[in-house]
Amino acid sequence: MSLPLYVQGAWFAGALLFIFGLKGMSSPASARKGIIIAGYGMLIAIAGTFLIPGLHNLGLMALALVLGGAAAWISGQKVKITDMPQMVAIYNGMGGGAAAAIAAIEFAKGDAHSTATTVLAVIGALIGAVSFTGSCVAWAKLQGVLKKAHRLPAQNGVNVLLALIAIGLGGAMVVLAPAQPELIFGFFAVALILGLIVTLPIGGADMPVVISLFNAFTGLAVGFEGYVLGNPALIIAGIVVGAAGTLLTQLMAKAMNRPLSNILFTPMVASGGGEAISGSMKEVGAIDAAAMMRYASKVIIVPGYGMAVAHAQHKVWEMTEILEEAGVEVKFAIHPVAGRMPGHMNVLLAEAGVPYDKIFDLEEINGEFGQADVALIIGANDVVNPSARTDKASPIYGMPILNADMAQNVIVIKRGKGTGYSGVENALFYTDNCRMLYGDAQPMAGEIIQHLKTMG
Ligand code: TAP
Repeated sequence: MSLPLYVQGAWFAGALLFIFGLKGMSSPASARKGIIIAGYGMLIAIAGTFLIPGLHNLGLMALALVLGGAAAWISGQKVKITDMPQMVAIYNGMGGGAAAAIAAIEFAKGDAHSTATTVLAVIGALIGAVSFTGSCVAWAKLQGVLKKAHRLPAQNGVNVLLALIAIGLGGAMVVLAPAQPELIFGFFAVALILGLIVTLPIGGADMPVVISLFNAFTGLAVGFEGYVLGNPALIIAGIVVGAAGTLLTQLMAKAMNRPLSNILFTPMVASGGGEAISGSMKEVGAIDAAAMMRYASKVIIVPGYGMAVAHAQHKVWEMTEILEEAGVEVKFAIHPVAGRMPGHMNVLLAEAGVPYDKIFDLEEINGEFGQADVALIIGANDVVNPSARTDKASPIYGMPILNADMAQNVIVIKRGKGTGYSGVENALFYTDNCRMLYGDAQPMAGEIIQHLKTMG
């Protein structure tokens, strides 16, 4: 059926706005505008769809929109910034599930499609279904509903076997098209189980990479199903999401110096590194930490996962403002995988009101640590571990790190002697120029603020 020009025009306009929106999201300063532009794109694409002449089930479509829109609106208003990864996971899963559902309806209708179209529908259905159940597991792990990584005895063998069965059933659906309901049901059942089984053994901390990968999957699935439905808005949106998700997955894997295959198929070993660490951890009080920073000319703050857990970003910004008023130059150094999701620290600091021009990426700031009087590390660990440079036995060997150890003095705020996500000891904490300020990041930043205020 050829569609009226206004419907096609609306879809193209929607697709263009998705692209402009994504462009806006490439910088924190324009990200909000980008999201709004993409939102308008979605609105226009949906409006265009409702204008298709002779459309059936308008009531059901409107009901789905109201229910989905209301659930998203309410959860979007309520979600805490630290719970954002699981929200992204579940929305992403919905996208994959929707793509798989489109394919299921097409198969169930049994309409004649060309072989090429059926192949694309099967591929979209497979990756959409895997992304749906996989993203649900990712949500459950990040939400703390699923606390343990469940690994089967021959996990990788089972993964491969299930994938082969799903591909075989998908192939049969192409050859025997229109496929019998039993075959369609079997194919979807195996694809959904595959998503579960592949994701269950992956540790919670690796989930951001997995979510990003599933995001790429969902994009591809939507793109394929867009082709099946002849909908250019879905094709373009799917390709854009698929490409962005793939790039982000690669960037995260690179920043952690772990190949994707290692993240997906090898559990992270929380073992110690090979190099022995000498020296001892030396404690400092909040008053001394405050004095060191108050009388410094340059302080670089390195936030990490612990700052997010402690919700300390507002106090950290308050502390920064006091230091700046006293004439201290303060900069923030952000490691690409600090925290547990891409841009985690940038989002938190932006939420607290830290201006973007004070926030620097690893490549921009690493050369400046040598001139800093104090590097203040707040709840960060792996991203400042110098053994990543030298200890070949360490699981984080090769990960680029922030050169905090090169500052004149290092102050580390953390609750105790706990390791970071990788489970390895941090050689930095034992160096002569490093002092440990033990405590939860928020009250500790509060104490420093109190002391700074008394120092005038
Ligand atoms: P981590 O290495 O995980 O270290 C966080 C530190 O914060 C811990 O050592 C912990 O020590 C401390 N901490 C926890 N709660 C705290 C609180 N309430 N107050 C103060 N300190 C607290 O964090 P990082 O340096 O940000 O590194 C991120 C790690 O996550 C990297 O290994 C990275 O590869 C991994 N990862 C990141 C991503 C993305 S995309 N960001 C994705 C997957 C994995 P105590 O227990 O002693 O307090």
